[in-house]
Amino acid sequence: MNLGITRALAAFAPLALALPALRAAPDAVPVLRIDAGAVTAHVSPLLYGLMTEEINHAYDGGLYAELVSNRILCDDPNVPVHWSLVQRNGGSAAMSLDDSQPINALLPTCLKLDVNTASEAQPVGVANDGYWGVPIQPATRYHVSFYAKTVGDFGGLLTVALESGDGAKTYASAKLEKIQGDWKDYAVDLTTGRDPPVANGRLVIYAVHSGALYLGLVSCFPPTWKDRPNGNRVDLMRRLAELQPAFLRFPGGNYLEGDTVATRFNWKATLHGLDQRLGHPGPWGYRSSDGLGLLEYLEWCEDLQMQPVLAVFAGYALQHEVVPAGPGLQPYVQDALDEIEYVTGGPDTRWGGERVADGHPAPFPLRYVEIGNEDNADKSGSYDGRFAQFYDAIKARYPGLRVIATTRVKSRRPDVTDEHFYYSAAKMEAETGRYDRYPRSGPKIMVGEWATYEGTPTPDLHSALSDAAWLTGLERNSDVVIMAAYAPLLVNVNPGASQWRTNLIGFNGLASYGSPSYHAQVMFSCHHGDAVLRASCDGAAGFFYSVTRDTHSGAIYLKAVNATGDSRCVRVRITGAAAVGPTGSSWVLASARPTDTNTVDAPDRVVPVAAPLPGIGPDFLHRFAPYSVTVLQLPSR
Ligand code: AHR
Repeated sequence: MNLGITRALAAFAPLALALPALRAAPDAVPVLRIDAGAVTAHVSPLLYGLMTEEINHAYDGGLYAELVSNRILCDDPNVPVHWSLVQRNGGSAAMSLDDSQPINALLPTCLKLDVNTASEAQPVGVANDGYWGVPIQPATRYHVSFYAKTVGDFGGLLTVALESGDGAKTYASAKLEKIQGDWKDYAVDLTTGRDPPVANGRLVIYAVHSGALYLGLVSCFPPTWKDRPNGNRVDLMRRLAELQPAFLRFPGGNYLEGDTVATRFNWKATLHGLDQRLGHPGPWGYRSSDGLGLLEYLEWCEDLQMQPVLAVFAGYALQHEVVPAGPGLQPYVQDALDEIEYVTGGPDTRWGGERVADGHPAPFPLRYVEIGNEDNADKSGSYDGRFAQFYDAIKARYPGLRVIATTRVKSRRPDVTDEHFYYSAAKMEAETGRYDRYPRSGPKIMVGEWATYEGTPTPDLHSALSDAAWLTGLERNSDVVIMAAYAPLLVNVNPGASQWRTNLIGFNGLASYGSPSYHAQVMFSCHHGDAVLRASCDGAAGFFYSVTRDTHSGAIYLKAVNATGDSRCVRVRITGAAAVGPTGSSWVLASARPTDTNTVDAPDRVVPVAAPLPGIGPDFLHRFAPYSVTVLQLPSR
């Protein structure tokens, strides 16, 4: 958590008031009673996690750091979309899609540049405009790679350049020699100077000699998180790391299911080198490169120390295509077993060996497997049978794995059931008590998707208040709610990039920001605690809270939401502790209007303010700011 934020916000400053002030109006002040001696539940160490899928250009044009769009020329069978012809100073050439020179059996299409007239003074080339432009940052090294083949006397020289969108300015360029003959892969690094960042640049590959040049799998990566080749964007990974997530639920969501069975997330087609990945049409209206494939999901987990929660395709696709239980489903069950083996198997296993060959010798830890996604949408009623078939096969081979159902089933008892909630602010607040009343005799619960949908493309403070109120309910019931994740996680805020109304983290090519709801979740996740303490507070409408303690340090975490527009004085009385105080800490997320929000241009309008909290003890008054989410850290023993 960014504790360095010290923006002055006097109106919202946390305030521990001396008790004599209370004597003036003792009845008007609600009392929050905390019994530090009464642990009502243990906080699940997995409670706060992430849910992810390819939606809103979350990966392509987002987290997956590739800057070239349509790199294997499959986005449109007729037109090389995102590519354009560049002819300088009288050089002349033609550009076309070509299916006559496949790079390999999987990549049928390439880009052909027929050069008529060209020289170093008259270069011609092909330019890629990326995802809403190729973003170019100062003092940054870009790794460019591509496959090339030439026919005839081509001259062997190419120049690769990062330019402004109109070609008027070159930010970096490099020459490549000896480009000749049949398909080979080539690579070069480009380093930019000190020019300010540009959002809408382009990558150009120039030829300077007449002849035919074929290009495919053109790629350009900026530096990635932990310098992983084919890796993730640094600023977005940093934001995710700040959430301290315990797990990653992937690959969906609807993205797992696909519109049809044929376009499901077929994990086997996402493995190996990029020249083995054809990509596939996703359910959110655009094609996925599959550059972020199964291994990349797992490495993402590894990099942020998250447990993978692996969702496997379970025989239901979004356009209601069903593979019912029985022999027809068996290949998909086997596919799931193979997938688990890819994740966890040793080098001597068929699929563990594939993972080793893909460059990751160590197996990944895996404890949770989810069977499908939102199978309550399957009105054929086949899920119970499908679930049982997957459950039995997985438990027989991997008895230690915990199996998650996506809706209620009767045939087997799942270890966990996944429940999803997308609500208005009012409904979300009304539902904060849902798990207070929940039976403890059934499966554990993963709230695998939840969000308040006020604000677009990212939630405003109004949403954040309800989201935080909802989280207080999950946290104090985390004996039964063992995992929870907001959805969707990421949104590219460029025009036309998103499909979902309210999403946690926004970004364009150059920058990203956390919504108020993101910051509220960082506040919660970073002040976790491991024991829920008994707490009660009467007569405080619009006030939500949960109280946990970190057994190791003794710190009590009081998380509170004042969803009203009035500041709220609360008397906090703590019993069952030998000592409390004298100085704690507070983090307050607040703003004047519930519609206040953050944007990519104003990323820090609504952010938490950290401050010391002096003058606390077992009995103190605290004023909670209007429209605020507060975490108080109270030392105790
Ligand atoms: O989060 C967006 C979508 O909402 C998910 O893909 C799906 O599981 C849910 O309906």
